[in-house]
Amino acid sequence: MNPMSIRDAINNSPRESFSTTEPLSVVGVCLDEETWTVLKVFAESAPLIRLRSHISEYRTQETDSVPDWLGSPSPDICIVDFDRDRRKAAQASELIHGAAPDTALFAVSSESQPDLIIQAMRSGCSEYLLKPMGREQLLNAVARVGGRRRERLQPFKAQVLAFMGAKGGCGVTSLVTQLGALLANSFSKKTLIVDLHADFGDAALYLGLTKYRYHFFELVENTDRLDAELLQSFLARHSSGLELIPAPEGNDAQRRILPGAVAQTFDFLRMRYDYILVDMGPGLSDENLEMIRHCDQLQVVTVAEVSALRNVVRHFDYLTRKEIPRERFRVILNRHQKRSLISDSEIEKTLGQKIFWKVPNQYAHVVKAINGGDPIALLSSSEVTRNLRDLASTLGVKSGGEKKKESSGLFGLLGRQ
Ligand SMILES: Nc1ncnc2c1ncn2[C@@H]1O[C@H](COP(=O)(O)OP(=O)(O)OP(=O)(O)O)[C@@H](O)[C@H]1O
Ligand SMILES: [Mg+2]
Repeated sequence: MNPMSIRDAINNSPRESFSTTEPLSVVGVCLDEETWTVLKVFAESAPLIRLRSHISEYRTQETDSVPDWLGSPSPDICIVDFDRDRRKAAQASELIHGAAPDTALFAVSSESQPDLIIQAMRSGCSEYLLKPMGREQLLNAVARVGGRRRERLQPFKAQVLAFMGAKGGCGVTSLVTQLGALLANSFSKKTLIVDLHADFGDAALYLGLTKYRYHFFELVENTDRLDAELLQSFLARHSSGLELIPAPEGNDAQRRILPGAVAQTFDFLRMRYDYILVDMGPGLSDENLEMIRHCDQLQVVTVAEVSALRNVVRHFDYLTRKEIPRERFRVILNRHQKRSLISDSEIEKTLGQKIFWKVPNQYAHVVKAINGGDPIALLSSSEVTRNLRDLASTLGVKSGGEKKKESSGLFGLLGRQ
């Protein structure tokens, strides 16, 4: 869809405040040329930061005015180069930290000795970035500041629960649509499902929703003009009260999603719902990874099969390497049967993590729900609905952060001895 047609459709409505999704303002202090260039490229390619100025001197006197020096209001992030003069850099950081405590301080340096890092942290820096500054390193640091700022500013904050299959067909869309309908109907929660499939998403079909015009990626492409009225034109509504932003129906034209745009869109959505359930396709595409970084919990839906379990292990390992906290991951074992070839304890040992939830295997009921497009009516007396109602009542509770355990046995199969 042409973005112009969306803008036309909303008839130039007044824009409401979108302050929590504005890019973070950044000031650099005494950065070398290469680091400043990296920052410029990052700012141009991702709408996460906006470079405000680059200052070529350290100010260290208590009488120096920080607002005069860094500008007013104080920037969200100040990046201080520690290589030109370590002592002055530390003093300048202390001065900024004292005068502008809401400004996040990043030290940047080519030195990685622990005592130097500790010195920078003691002077108020929350991040220590090593040169040459990598995109990933910067993205993680900026995301942490964004997360903290969101927590401060957002009074109404949806739990964003992402669901991903260990492989195709594990039951993600079935679970997400039924859970969503239950949360909206039985728990009266304002609930939204976002179908994050790049193409051929099923959530609309499973809910029997055919009347919608736009899909999620068109919303993301228009995130800079997003407001309540524009959002309305993207929502499909189910009789349970559940709302859905569907995926593209077919294989849509090539689109380019800017890094940060998915997170920015969810910042806006968070303010409007109690729960947002995200139906993600399997795999670690850029959009999925950004979603996982941004969500409150990642529910990985698996079945008791070696190939699926191997994928869960690989995903967890990969995501841990990407510095995504392990406490965020939960395992849902779908199509659970008491007499499975692979026992629950073997699965837990393999994954190094407790199974958070088990959904019983009830093929006939689930297929009926899908065909009828009405998960609650058709499943009201089934074991699956009872099970998912219990799951819905526990979803908002933060996970306890099970410890990673060593694996053995069957797990040799999965390369996790
Ligand atoms: N608890 C369950 N018991 C029995 N069958 C189930 C259960 N959950 C899902 N199924 C069945 O598994 C199949 C796949 O389900 P679904 O389409 O929800 O999976 P998915 O993970 O969304 O797949 P995809 O990767 O294609 O998006 C469906 O036929 C569905 O009926
Ligand atoms: Mg699906």
